[in-house]
Amino acid sequence: MTDAALGRPTTHANLDFFDDQHPPAGDFLRDVVSGLKRAPKTIPPVYFYDRKGSALFDQITEAQEYYVTRTELGLLDAIAPELAERAGHGAVVVEPGSGSSVKIRKLLDALGDPAGYVGLDISRDHLLDACADLKFDYPELSIGAVCGDFTSGLDLDHLPLPQGRRVVFFPGSTIGNFEPEAARSVLAGFRKGMRRGDAVLIGADRVKAAETLVAAYDDAAGITAQFNLNLLTRINRELDGTIPVEAFTHLSLWNTEKSRIEMHLETTRKVSFSIKGEHFEMEKGERLHTENSHKFTPQAFGKLAETAGFQITQSWSDADEFFTLYWLEPRWDA
Ligand code: SAH
Ligand code: AVI
Repeated sequence: MTDAALGRPTTHANLDFFDDQHPPAGDFLRDVVSGLKRAPKTIPPVYFYDRKGSALFDQITEAQEYYVTRTELGLLDAIAPELAERAGHGAVVVEPGSGSSVKIRKLLDALGDPAGYVGLDISRDHLLDACADLKFDYPELSIGAVCGDFTSGLDLDHLPLPQGRRVVFFPGSTIGNFEPEAARSVLAGFRKGMRRGDAVLIGADRVKAAETLVAAYDDAAGITAQFNLNLLTRINRELDGTIPVEAFTHLSLWNTEKSRIEMHLETTRKVSFSIKGEHFEMEKGERLHTENSHKFTPQAFGKLAETAGFQITQSWSDADEFFTLYWLEPRWDA
């Protein structure tokens, strides 16, 4: 099927493969209910990304205050020749949490002659649209999509991949959305199936002035607020929820001790609601913790990479030292 207006494919029919691992839908209810019973209340950020949430994230990446995406894109342009040298000929790029697959175009163009690409994301429709678009623009490249959860590792052996060095591309500082032990486990999961010569290219956002960080997660146009509140709308729609969304406001806070931005939803009045028939109450001013976005010093990132079984072989930062891209290779002595 083709969208006549754009001449763009609108299904995954053009992809070289689609592997649907059916990330379990039942977890959403379980995680929301258990998170609301915790003190303080918390819901994992992976649930932001329904179709609407993925589209809102794309809008965030264009907000003036959200320097992350444009800084990383500029960096990818600046280091293109070095990336080509590192990756060599015929690399197969695997991108966990691929989202709209925008940054990958920079990497594929930099590499010149990659052999294949695999996008992996939990947000199925968004993933398929993005990979189909990519295949339209790179018809000669083998392109496949995996709908799955990257926290379970990267199970690539059963996929019809071209030969060649595998480069895991993990941009956007998505690693920062995990607490330290979980971040180590995500990276160790990537490390597990790697062969000699394989590598990881990962983006990590850096510690900087608190005002800059807080504004990046609380843009003046209110897109990040909508992104945060959409989680409640999703719960209402998919889990028979009765949450009064208008009684919550978005908060972006810098936690110096934990070196992270925290997003919360705070009640403006006492609220009571139900989810699949189960009853919950929140006091006025009570918070629901929805996301952490850790920011790294080079030292802290180096330690994380090492404990996950990697060595940093090269790193690149922008002139303001806002963001760093690291080339990681497995340590074989680990
Ligand atoms: N890589 C893009 C998108 C980052 S947004 C960029 O750098 O701009 C984070 C993406 O990761 C979203 O598309 C979301 O759906 C996906 N994601 C989050 N947690 C995931 C998980 N556990 N497994 C698979 N995909 C996940
Ligand atoms: C996907 N992730 C790296 C984003 C971040 O910056 O932590 C998600 C996000 N949340 C609010 N704005 C962007």
